[in-house]
Amino acid sequence: MKFQSLFLCASAFTGGIVGASPSLATSKAAAASLATKTRIWSTTESSVTYYQFINPRKITLITTKTVTSYEPSVATLPTTVTEMVVSHVTWEDRISYSNGDRSTSITSFVATVPETWAVAKPQPTDLPAGTGAGAAELQCSEELNPGRPEAAADPLCTAHGLKTGCQGQCALRDNSWWCFEMHERDYTNAALRMGRACWGGNLEFRQLNTPCVVGDVGMACVPGQGLNTSWGAVNWEGPEAAG
Ligand SMILES: *[C@@H]1O[C@H](CO)[C@@H](O)[C@H](O)[C@H]1NC(C)=O
Repeated sequence: MKFQSLFLCASAFTGGIVGASPSLATSKAAAASLATKTRIWSTTESSVTYYQFINPRKITLITTKTVTSYEPSVATLPTTVTEMVVSHVTWEDRISYSNGDRSTSITSFVATVPETWAVAKPQPTDLPAGTGAGAAELQCSEELNPGRPEAAADPLCTAHGLKTGCQGQCALRDNSWWCFEMHERDYTNAALRMGRACWGGNLEFRQLNTPCVVGDVGMACVPGQGLNTSWGAVNWEGPEAAG
């Protein structure tokens, strides 16, 4: 079952690839010429699945990923930048059957995905770097935050009849805040939610991509009243709402 869902996931992913191998050299060159900074990292993960019934077998899947990101130069802040992220992925499937037979198959692909970030200059009133969604400062509980000031609501949220919350502070890179601009599909990855956002109404959500400030509370928190546990980011508003 796990194996099958993996393949579904694989086809969904390859379907979305912007720059497959033949055009990689060109897209890479174009990205590199715009970039002032290149970051490269690699990961290897493996998982083992056993199938007990028809044709018993053990499947070891080894995923190796090398990611290169081309970060454009940032001149004036605040600004929005699009970073090209090129991932070389190899899936190696090692299958061993109960009769001793073995087989190995290798699938490789390259995915180029643009990532958009809002970049801003830090201000003294910003929450510190590393203030995640679970940080005490953002907890709705008044006991945990006696005397917490109330941060000003974002005018865009107010204009839409929504409340302002903080999803966790943006990432600090080279002394600037980098706030990731999510697509709806990214929302399930909590690590990608950052900066201030609007919430409320009829399960509405609108990301602001601005750094969180002192006095901000977490999403769905109404200070003095507690968490609104019935809220969820279901109806997206704003430019990213198209998926
Ligand atoms: C809680 O959130 C839901 C969904 O967004 C909303 O309909 C409801 O009015 C909210 N309740 C309060 C007390 O803010």
